[in-house]
Amino acid sequence: MELHNFRCCDTNFEKNNINNDDGISTSSSQDQVDVEESVKKLFTNFKHRLEVDTECILPVLHRDEHVAFLRKGLSNLSSSYECLDASRPWLCYWILHALELLDEPLNDETISQVAQFLGKCQCPDGGFAGGPGQQAHLAPTYAAVNALCILGTEESFKVIDRETLYDFLMRMRTAHGSFKMHLGGEEDIRGAYCAASVARLTNIITPQLFDGTPEWIVRCQTYEGGFAGCPGMEAHGGYSFCGIAALTLLNKTNLCDIKNLLRWTVNRQMRYEGGFQGRTNKLVDGCYSFWQGGAFPLIHMVLSMQDDSALSAEHWLFNQKALQEYILVCCQYPGGGLIDKPGRMRDYYHTSYCLSGLSMAQHFAGGKLSHVYNIGHENNILRTTHPVYNVCVEKIVHADLYFRQLTHPKHTENCTDK
Ligand code: FPP
Ligand code: ZN
Repeated sequence: MELHNFRCCDTNFEKNNINNDDGISTSSSQDQVDVEESVKKLFTNFKHRLEVDTECILPVLHRDEHVAFLRKGLSNLSSSYECLDASRPWLCYWILHALELLDEPLNDETISQVAQFLGKCQCPDGGFAGGPGQQAHLAPTYAAVNALCILGTEESFKVIDRETLYDFLMRMRTAHGSFKMHLGGEEDIRGAYCAASVARLTNIITPQLFDGTPEWIVRCQTYEGGFAGCPGMEAHGGYSFCGIAALTLLNKTNLCDIKNLLRWTVNRQMRYEGGFQGRTNKLVDGCYSFWQGGAFPLIHMVLSMQDDSALSAEHWLFNQKALQEYILVCCQYPGGGLIDKPGRMRDYYHTSYCLSGLSMAQHFAGGKLSHVYNIGHENNILRTTHPVYNVCVEKIVHADLYFRQLTHPKHTENCTDK
């Protein structure tokens, strides 16, 4: 392995440690300094390992440890997860998705058990709740539908009651096309994305369901270029992904300012750490590897439809290598699982989104699915995640084939609005 291939071996690497506080130290500029220091230690360590451990191709994704951590979570969660009692379909989705990225199969019994559990989270009048007996909510509905598609069996597909799901989505819809997260709840761009994702995947879209939704979504794009949770708020990576992914699902990406979105998203990649921040002047976090990184294939698709001249390069629109280095060197928790940033605890959310971001950085170079850009050991290569749903591509194809042949629950003929 040539040492100069890694950023931390570059003589200019230290200089990228900017610490640019304009001479005025604040608690947030100090937080940035602290993160850079912790990242620096890990990169320095990594550089030493490269020099002495010449037998091993570094960095290495610690697959076995991550798989053990994930499998444990499917059967047993520690009391620290009590606070996620209203996010149980999310836990299923994060764990199943991370396992599918790692190409780890589940046995038939587990698949059936998880499908049955998700069935218990479904509400009698439609949608899924955060746990059995709780209130239907768009976020666990999105997570449950994704998880059931990852399971990918007839039993799991049949759990989804498409007719009541449609009724639930119509109840969450507001007069101007946005979506409330739950009855009486907040309306924000996550709602539009979750609704568009489950409706598209299960083939229950009607023209009235998303009437006015794309127009409402573009009102969330801010002067910075990213999308906010609702009109007038601050651009953030989580919301930005929801915005561009929902517009993609609704075939209305032409309504947004794509170049401004690209400029804002590119500038969220941290010069020193290599990972992404969620918003301007905030800290790097492994989960934004997907929320920000996942926007690039979508932006690439839109730009290539408009003007492909600038997009023929082999490499992607962001620094894929730097992102892989951040995830592999700074975000792997010893003993399994992935994290936000050095010093943080592992959890299933960050494990899932760090791996999703890693998959995104490995695949889609130059927009070509066939090309894999991997740093380090060849076993690091993950399966390809679908940039709109964040479920592996094969599972989306399989689910789409299943739901596509079903008639729309509100009409007798097949849904043609696809
Ligand atoms: C800020 O947290 C976080 C937000 C403002 C929202 C994040 C939104 C998502 C991750 C998208 C959710 C998507 C779906 C589909 C439900 P913070 O202030 O703790 O973090 P920060 O300092 O990194 O901004
Ligand atoms: Zn995070």
